[in-house]
Amino acid sequence: MVLSFNRSSRWSPPDAAHGGEEVASQVRVLLEGIKPERPFLLPALHRIQEELGYVPKEAVPVLASYFNTTPAAIFGVISFYSEIRTEPPPKVEIEWCSGPACLLKGGGKVRTALEAVLGSPMNSALPDGSIGLRLVQCDGTCHLAPLVRIGGRYIGPLGVAEAIELARRLKEGKPP
Ligand code: FES
Repeated sequence: MVLSFNRSSRWSPPDAAHGGEEVASQVRVLLEGIKPERPFLLPALHRIQEELGYVPKEAVPVLASYFNTTPAAIFGVISFYSEIRTEPPPKVEIEWCSGPACLLKGGGKVRTALEAVLGSPMNSALPDGSIGLRLVQCDGTCHLAPLVRIGGRYIGPLGVAEAIELARRLKEGKPP
């Protein structure tokens, strides 16, 4: 099966002239010790993301070959799991909790404020990669709802005014 890529896709063909083969080699090394069986695909993706910060496009054909499947099947798994990144992470990432307690306490308004001030929708980053917004699940720290996490630090309970202030500070390059 031939998998085609286009410009509107999140994926583009591996570019050997720009380090594509080097990245593919890194991925091959990271796969060492992982059984080439489908149940181990997810652990493989997590290992790649842990080491490289994301799962680069160059990993797709390598994974397909290793797990004896098609690039389309690999892409399907990557697309299904929102925690798998397909782009390098931004320098500063605001993790917005989408859990029920945060939503009940106004998390939706916090999200709208962050997106408006940053000028960036959820699960994307500014074009320069400086700041990104990412939707995450509840991790049990609901006493701080509604909250965001930045670099492992919890910020909450957040009101709309605080969310606006936070986004402005980050845009100015200041710490949260
Ligand atoms: S719902 Fe947001 S931390 Fe639990």
